[in-house]
Amino acid sequence: MALYRARPEDGVAWVTGASSGIGRQIALELAGAGYTVIATARREDELSSLAAETANLAGSAIPMPCDVTDEDAMSDLVAAIEARHGRIALAVFNAGMFAPVHGERMSVERFTKSFAVNVSGVIHGLVPTVALMQRTGRGQVVLMASVAGYAGLPTSAAYGATKAAVNNLAQSLKFDFDKMNIRIQVINPGFVDTPATEGNPFPMPALMQVEEAGKRVARGIAESGFEITFPRRFTWPLKLLSKLPYSLYFALVARGTGWKKKPLRPK
Ligand SMILES: NC(=O)c1ccc[n+]([C@@H]2O[C@H](COP(=O)([O-])OP(=O)(O)OC[C@H]3O[C@@H](n4cnc5c(N)ncnc54)[C@H](OP(=O)(O)O)[C@@H]3O)[C@@H](O)[C@H]2O)c1
Repeated sequence: MALYRARPEDGVAWVTGASSGIGRQIALELAGAGYTVIATARREDELSSLAAETANLAGSAIPMPCDVTDEDAMSDLVAAIEARHGRIALAVFNAGMFAPVHGERMSVERFTKSFAVNVSGVIHGLVPTVALMQRTGRGQVVLMASVAGYAGLPTSAAYGATKAAVNNLAQSLKFDFDKMNIRIQVINPGFVDTPATEGNPFPMPALMQVEEAGKRVARGIAESGFEITFPRRFTWPLKLLSKLPYSLYFALVARGTGWKKKPLRPK
């Protein structure tokens, strides 16, 4: 039997981190494809403006705000989605944050906050959603990670570690989810032009516009691959790089990013 793939007629799509950037664009793409999209993030005004933007689309977006770091609130939200809008056919756990870490002036807070949003925030949505999907015997879940999860990069000790965790989590669960008729996919984008990246003080090779990123995610969700990654001219070489012996890997990344020449910053 072919593994389940969500369709708008099977239930609603839930997108976290839908108030801006890639998540907002994914919500618009899914609403365009006819889904009723439950849109979650903390900023209610941004979710309302997203809902207004779907007025002329085949589907719609319904704001249901929540902080993904709040385990109880997320569990209540999943129950509320099902009670008010029916079963969740597709869930995209996209909410995330980037906090750069410099080895010479680390703070515990940057790590705990990054893990709370990027890892626990995913788990808080995934676990109750999959419990419901198990009851109906099908579902599709999509986890937002990043190419920063492939291997260590400068400033990425917190962010990259959370995204490596999300990749591993998705890979590990796939073995069981395949048997449960729940399709799990992971998204590993390169650089996308969003509010999260606009202040980056370093060059962002192959930077993609957010509209294009939304389209790539929507296409990946409709196809069968486990990993959704783009732009491949950037992400595939990075993946290859991460498989090299460490001596070569560190030398190439330090040179490629110019990191070797960067002075340490005083505390
Ligand atoms: N942009 C890139 O180059 C890039 C590359 C690879 C992966 N990604 C990943 O893509 C995802 C989206 O990033 P983006 O670039 O689109 O950034 P963004 O525009 O800053 O969007 C982040 C989204 O996450 C939500 N969010 C953050 N903390 C939250 C919390 N505690 N509870 C609920 N929602 C929360 C934000 O909404 P509120 O602030 O309203 O809560 C916002 O909707 C992230 O997981 C990011 O790591 C981005």
